[in-house]
Amino acid sequence: MSPTDPHEPVDPREPVDPREPVDPHEPVDLHEPVDPREPVDRSPHVDPAAGDALAPPTPADDRALLRVAGITKSFGTNRVLDGVGFEVRRGEVVVLIGPSGSGKTTVLRSLNGLETPDAGTLSFDGGPEIDFSAKVSKADRLALRDRSAMVFQHHNLFPHRTVIQNVLEGPVYAHRVPKAEATARAEALLERVGLAEKRDAFPFELSGGQQQRVGIVRALALQPSLLLFDEPTSALDPELVGEVLLVLKELADEGWTMVIVTHELGFARQVADEVLFFDEGAIVERGTPKQLFTDPQHERTRRFVDRILRPLEE
Ligand SMILES: Nc1ncnc2c1ncn2[C@@H]1O[C@H](COP(=O)(O)OP(=O)(O)OP(=O)(O)O)[C@@H](O)[C@H]1O
Ligand SMILES: [Mg+2]
Repeated sequence: MSPTDPHEPVDPREPVDPREPVDPHEPVDLHEPVDPREPVDRSPHVDPAAGDALAPPTPADDRALLRVAGITKSFGTNRVLDGVGFEVRRGEVVVLIGPSGSGKTTVLRSLNGLETPDAGTLSFDGGPEIDFSAKVSKADRLALRDRSAMVFQHHNLFPHRTVIQNVLEGPVYAHRVPKAEATARAEALLERVGLAEKRDAFPFELSGGQQQRVGIVRALALQPSLLLFDEPTSALDPELVGEVLLVLKELADEGWTMVIVTHELGFARQVADEVLFFDEGAIVERGTPKQLFTDPQHERTRRFVDRILRPLEE
């Protein structure tokens, strides 16, 4: 394989994304995500002949995929999370809103193992179950990273690697998925977001919206249980926002479980099962988008929502 082979994935010795090599233990069938309205039983999707030992326990009910309780985090003397707790059920979309500095990104990073809270518990159905007030084992830390995949505000693509190389990096080098299998899945995902023909393009040859869609494919290619989005459209030109939100909407409709930080309240209204309003490191109010956006119970929520919906009014 020549170094210029566009199909050749990246050198495994080079820095890859923040996650460390881990064994995948939560293969979600990308082509058949769960229907959020149905109780989850993934057993029909597991091919026993293939000996899918990596299949997760398949709960027969719709228990929470993720439970977060009492999470606190300080940076020095700055307490940025102060007893955060919520649940995310399988197939559910939870949207986090709140003013700058209220702790939304820190919550997402904590879910993904990029940040370690000082206290509180976090448990994924099927593991891991972590109590941050005790020392977190390396195995738990790696398992935590493996359960979710994060899409950042900026797409974070490697500029000198093609689209397909960017997508293959996680599955092939972090998760050790056989290259042929990972490539087939990556191509299918690119097709799904309308980027099949950009397979061998470099990021600079793509629009911001296309780059962000590649970022989403990178996350999907990791086959996480949970997708995390941190203001996925806020760095885009306004006319490119729609194409990215459309992909997110499709993922939500297909039953992916997602936690999304966004200021796009119209979008949140369409996709969110629950909205959490954060202020000063705590969840001040939670409810359906309709409840929070049209009939907020707290003054702080009302002020925040008003500022976004009616920025020019006093
Ligand atoms: N690594 C860090 N070191 C020190 N302080 C940090 C660090 N990361 C975040 N903070 C602080 O934690 C607080 C919460 O930050 P966070 O990024 O979670 O807020 P946010 O709600 O995502 O804000 P924004 O809407 O601006 O993205 C802020 O006061 C921030 O300055
Ligand atoms: Mg943030």
